[in-house]
Amino acid sequence: MTSEYEIKKQICEIGKRIYDKGMVAANDGNISVRIGKNLFLCTPTGVSKGFMTPEYICKVDGEGKVIQANPGFKPSSEIKMHMRVYKERPDVNAVVHAHPLYATGFAIAGKPLSQPIMPEAVIALGCVPIAEYGTPSTDEIPEAVSKYLQNFDAVLLENHGALTYSDSLLNAYYKMESVEFYARLLYISCQLGGPKELSKAQVERLYDIRRQFGLKGKHPADICVNNNAGLPSCYSAGICDTCSADNSGTDNVSEDLVARITQKVMEQLSK
Ligand code: 13P
Repeated sequence: MTSEYEIKKQICEIGKRIYDKGMVAANDGNISVRIGKNLFLCTPTGVSKGFMTPEYICKVDGEGKVIQANPGFKPSSEIKMHMRVYKERPDVNAVVHAHPLYATGFAIAGKPLSQPIMPEAVIALGCVPIAEYGTPSTDEIPEAVSKYLQNFDAVLLENHGALTYSDSLLNAYYKMESVEFYARLLYISCQLGGPKELSKAQVERLYDIRRQFGLKGKHPADICVNNNAGLPSCYSAGICDTCSADNSGTDNVSEDLVARITQKVMEQLSK
């Protein structure tokens, strides 16, 4: 079993990576890891996550109350957001919050990552919704994020940043990388005249592959399975346009599809 000290070192390593990759500026971002039934390690508030050593890392309980912290260090101001994820997702063992440039740009523009543009992003993430704006450190962000936790492993935080979570710290970090890579590609393809989206049939094949691989975590592919049973699909849940997009066989995004995407974005904005 990995020692607590080793996990603290891993948190510092991931902090350095998100800082070095420009996913956070100055003291931004936070990271936590579940180490016991009601025990967690988390980054301290108000320090650069790029320059941490294991002594910086705080230990908290499931309410975010301090169990151990060295003098001068207090748990992240966003600890309630982390704890909400653990509470509602028992399969999650690590949470990463960052402000990656492109993903945060989409979160600020109020545009969810909902266009199927490349197989890896479709398989890893499906689509990435935006949780409604909340004031940092308050209960507003955990509340806003809550409604997406059962169907997604990555959420944009409106006018703020991105949140990813997974069964391990490395996987939670990889999800953050995937979100940012997807956002960058979507942005670049928009600059090049607009992405050529994968068709509905192509997306469904990728969703099938994901299900066959038995990949861990929550994903819109599972909502689409629900859809066959008459439960909400990611489309009817108002998050993705993928599942009901009638774009099979067309090379370009139809005006109708653009209109529907615009409508969904407007709905997200008016929530
Ligand atoms: P903390 O340093 O308190 O974790 O806050 C950083 C941040 O990014 C808040 O959203």
